[in-house]
Amino acid sequence: MNEQMSNARWSIGSVLLGAVLAFGFYGVVGNAVEGAPGQVVQDAVYIEECGACHFAYQPGLLPRKSWRGIMLGLEDHFGENAELDAETTGQITSYLEENALQAGKPSSLSKLMRNMPDEPPLRITELPAFVFMHEVIPRQLQVKELKEGFLSPCEDCHREAAEGIFDKERLHPGYGPSVWGKNEPD
Ligand code: HEC
Ligand code: HEC
Repeated sequence: MNEQMSNARWSIGSVLLGAVLAFGFYGVVGNAVEGAPGQVVQDAVYIEECGACHFAYQPGLLPRKSWRGIMLGLEDHFGENAELDAETTGQITSYLEENALQAGKPSSLSKLMRNMPDEPPLRITELPAFVFMHEVIPRQLQVKELKEGFLSPCEDCHREAAEGIFDKERLHPGYGPSVWGKNEPD
């Protein structure tokens, strides 16, 4: 083989390799945009009304009873008035209940069902499974209990929260227990 030919082969090889990498990358990006199956919030009314003050939590993060409790208490919603007209309240309640976290309806968030009491809390951040999943955080911060609401802004740490992706492998780079404390002087 002469030198010119081997150069030509090399460059065809790198074009192919480039294409594979580009496709691989596209695959990853495409996947992130698509999000977790069934967990991308698309209801425009819900996003507008319930995403105004905080992240529009996926219906699949709470069981029906909790959503019902929240929707019945909007005039005193964790200290804020979030009341809506009856029609909008009804519409959002149906959307939340239809897509709620549910035993026997597997989803990417089913793990949150673990140890669910008969009377579930109103907050996602108080579900027993949620507390268990985040146990490492108070330990890392060396506090007995986190302040109420500390973990409520999911998107602060879970960069793909809006896509319904909460995997611990996909937290913000450089965020989370694996790095906490490492940059502080001792
Ligand atoms: C006027 C602002 C406001 C609006 C509008 C609002 N919320 Fe909230 N919401 C809050 C505040 C404040 C908290 C408590 C956050 C904290 O403790 O840091 C909260 C907390 C929550 C939580 C509990 C989060 C946790 O800690 O697990 C849920 C669930 C929730 N809201 C759902 C809704 C839904 C559903 C709607 C629409 C019907 C809605 N919110 C509209 C202000 C609002
Ligand atoms: C302060 C940062 C922080 C906030 C805010 C936060 N999380 Fe997390 N979350 C984590 C960390 C860190 C882990 C992984 C813990 C571990 O490694 O065991 C985690 C784990 C999880 C897991 C389990 C993932 C898995 O792969 O098993 C779920 C589900 C989850 N979080 C959902 C939420 C939701 C929903 C909210 C908002 C209501 C939220 N988180 C708010 C940091 C956070």
